[in-house]
Amino acid sequence: MSLKKIFLILILLLLCFFLMGQDVQNKKSTNILVAYFSWGNNVARISEKVDTITQASAIAPGHTGKVAQYIAEFTRGDIFEIVVEPKYSSNYSECLDQAAEQLRRKERPVLVKKVANIDRYDIIFLGFPNWWHTIPMAIHSFVEEHDLSGKTIVPFVTHGRGGLERTIRDLKAILSEDCRILEPLSTYERNVDRAKDDVERWLRELNFQR
Ligand SMILES: Cc1cc2nc3c(=O)[nH]c(=O)nc-3n(C[C@H](O)[C@H](O)[C@H](O)COP(=O)(O)O)c2cc1C
Repeated sequence: MSLKKIFLILILLLLCFFLMGQDVQNKKSTNILVAYFSWGNNVARISEKVDTITQASAIAPGHTGKVAQYIAEFTRGDIFEIVVEPKYSSNYSECLDQAAEQLRRKERPVLVKKVANIDRYDIIFLGFPNWWHTIPMAIHSFVEEHDLSGKTIVPFVTHGRGGLERTIRDLKAILSEDCRILEPLSTYERNVDRAKDDVERWLRELNFQR
């Protein structure tokens, strides 16, 4: 075989490897979405009075946002922040009152943006804080405004001392019956900053690869 032919074959082989690599990358990054709602992404403005210890989650990315980042980094999924109107106060007790009122009135806050082309995602990690023992009303808005039928939903929740409470039960009740719902991750608010290893262990248990 001439040197020219060998060179040509080598070029072709390199091209094949390059294209195969691209395909794997694309599949990995395009069929996983990490969508999350967090107080920190939904405050009108941070008031000067904000206590950065007790109200740390009022500052983006918030607790759920941090867990979302660990997940997206590991799975190479796309991140989507669920942002709604009206915004919440950066004052904790005011935010508690606003959320309680929304829940009482079964309000659906308006999504500022929707996921473009939700069809291209097969797996949706859906994260939110426990608000008043259940899912924030923004999660109702998100689920109602996107067609999630047939998708795999992987819930992750951050919370205070209450834990998951009714969050997963209430989420399951609003998802369409043909959704496959995987084992949720529950993270206590005070453990968020050191939760990366736990998040990765949970992902491996669910058969996600880095
Ligand atoms: C409006 C509101 C209601 C909350 N209700 C609960 C609750 O019922 N149970 C609980 O364990 N934690 C509750 N928390 C605490 C949050 O779930 C917790 O701080 C969470 O990690 C916040 O996540 P974020 O920073 O992504 O918003 C509440 C927080 C807020 C702001």
